[in-house]
Order: sequence, then structure tokens, then C-alpha cells
Amino acid sequence: MSKAKITAIGTYAPSRRLTNADLEKIVDTSDEWIVQRTGMKERRIADEHQFTSDLCIEAVKDLKSRYEGTLDDVDMILVATTTSDYAFPSTACRVQDYFGWENTGALDINATCAGLTYGLHLANGLITSGLHRKILVIAGETLSKVTDYTDRTTCVLFGDAAGALLVERDEEIPGFLAFVQGTSGNGGDILYRAGLRNELNGVQLAGSGKMVQNGREVYKWAARTIPREFERLLQQAGLTSGELDWFVPHSANLRMIESICEKTPFPIEKTLTSVEYYGNTSSVSIVLALDLAVKAGKLKKDQTVMLFGFGGGLTYTGLLIKWGM
Ligand code: ACO
Repeated sequence: MSKAKITAIGTYAPSRRLTNADLEKIVDTSDEWIVQRTGMKERRIADEHQFTSDLCIEAVKDLKSRYEGTLDDVDMILVATTTSDYAFPSTACRVQDYFGWENTGALDINATCAGLTYGLHLANGLITSGLHRKILVIAGETLSKVTDYTDRTTCVLFGDAAGALLVERDEEIPGFLAFVQGTSGNGGDILYRAGLRNELNGVQLAGSGKMVQNGREVYKWAARTIPREFERLLQQAGLTSGELDWFVPHSANLRMIESICEKTPFPIEKTLTSVEYYGNTSSVSIVLALDLAVKAGKLKKDQTVMLFGFGGGLTYTGLLIKWGM
């Protein structure tokens, strides 16, 4: 069976910053409340004419400039997003059109904040099965366009960004060691953005196209589920937490990550996050955290890393990987 590994990374965030001080002028909130409850100081916001595909293209350009090989033989583009430019065509097709690669598949993945880890899991499956050789897994979000800036309970949380990872066939070292997944569709109504249908699980949906969440319930679900699945994932790979170099949970909220770590034997100092200066960027948060660590010289080739995406659905995918570059 073929093996797959991550061989390149690129990220992009819009230049406009939305600080806690800016939010104090928009809703009844304070820097102290936001920092204490979430660990966030600022987020990046796309301008009016910038959409998710524009951010994804910039992230791929960044990857391209840092990668020694060619991307002309990419044979699949997977884009994780919940804020696609159009209902269709997909954002992946917009990225393909920009770069002009013709012999490639292109599709979007809708798994909210778990989109990046779902995308990597699918890329690993497509490569190890022998069907594909080189897959771009991109995450891109313009959450500011679907955030209700009159709702202080959500508008302080979200930001915009994009990130890309290249997954390639490798005949020597397996880059993907183990995975866990789970879904609780019965919790769909605690975090949603309505589409064509305005009822879900017997609940009348609100929000007029903006994101709606019951933050407290989402927090409780994540703090209960992720520590349990952290242990299951280690068992799956036959590893102990001491053999893990880094834990990269979805950067939804620093306090939530602390609460997850308190329930595992893993020290918070060995988590990689992006929440402080980017806010919650949904599917992008993990790739931003990885890139910050690469640039800081913390994340190194062959280190063992746990990625854990979780979010609306409710759904999650955790992956144990060997960092490949
Ligand atoms: N500023 C000041 N006060 C606020 C704000 C704000 N921005 N937002 C809420 N409050 C108030 C509430 O009105 C409430 O006041 P009350 O006691 O007078 O009624 C009080 O703060 C406490 O509200 P809670 O919602 O209980 O606050 P909590 O401690 O749970 O923190 C938060 C809220 C930060 C949203 C938290 O629940 C959370 O982070 N949940 C997880 C959210 C999340 O991560 N969602 C995404 C996950 S998946 C994905 O990324 C799509």
C-alpha cells in the first residue's frame, strides 16, 4: 500500500485587524471579558470585495513560494469551507481556475471547524489506496460575512483566513498514523447557519443567514468529547501522551483548550494554537497554528503531532501524524 505525508504549507490572512478595542465600540463588551473567556486579542477581517476563494488562492501562492517541487501535477483539490463564494460552483473549482491545472479533481468539504482534518483524512485515503498522488488540502473561511455584529455572544469570536497543506505519495515513511471520528447530528441545532430549510431537529432556526450558536452547549460538548477521543486516538496508534510532541486542537477558544488539556495528561505548553491573534477561524485554525509553529522553529520534521478538528454538525476528526517537512 502507498503511504502519504504532508510536504508543504502555506497560509494567508487579510491585513485588516479587528481588535477587542474595536469590538468595544460595536457591542456591549470589554477587552477583559473577551481575553478572560476566550484568549482572543484580535482577528483578521476580509474586505468587502475579498471572498473565500481569494483567500485560498493567496494561501496556495504562499505554499507554492515555499515548496521546491511543482504543483502542476496536483491531481485533487479539496477545499474545506462553510463560507463558499457561491452555493455552486465550489470554491475548489475557483482555485483550479485561477491556477489553470486541468487534470485535477476539485470539490468542497463541509465539515465546519473539522473541515481541515476531514480533508487530510480523505487525502490520506485517496493516496494510500493508490488512486491519487498529490492533493492540495485547503481550508478557507470568510466568517465575518456570516457573523451577526449585533450579537455580542458570537461576534467577538470569529475571524477570516486561509491555509493550504500539500499531501503527497511517499514510499518510505507513513505520515498518517491513526484517526478517530464521530458525529452527533442531534446536536446540529446548537451551532448552525440556516440554508434553504428553517427547521432542524424540531427547532425553528433563527439568524437570517448568519451564524447562530449556543456557546455554552458547544463548549460543554467539546470539553466532554475531545479529552475522551484524545485518549482513544493515542490507543489506536499504540502511543502514550509522552510520545506526542504537539497537540493541535481547533483554536475555538483558549479557555476551552485549557479545559480540554486539564482532562488529559497532556501539558497545555505543548499545544499549538492560533486563537490569540486570529480568533476562531473555523477550518483554518489548525493550519494557522501549524504554520505559526513552523515559522517559530518549534514544529520539526518527523515530530508526532495530534490534530483535532471539531465543530458544527456536530462532528469531529482527530488525526495522529508525523510532520513531513
Ligand atoms: N461581552 C460581555 N459579556 C458577554 C459577551 C461579550 N462578548 N458574550 C456573552 N456575555 C455575557 C452573557 O450575556 C452572560 O451574561 P448574563 O450572565 O448576564 O446572562 C455572561 O456573559 C455569560 O455568558 P455565557 O454564554 O454563559 O458565557 P461563557 O462563559 O459560556 O462564554 C463563550 C461564552 C465565550 C461563547 C463560550 O461559551 C464559548 O467559547 N463557547 C464555545 C464557542 C465555540 O467555541 N464555538 C465554536 C466551536 S465550533 C466552531 O468553531 C464553529
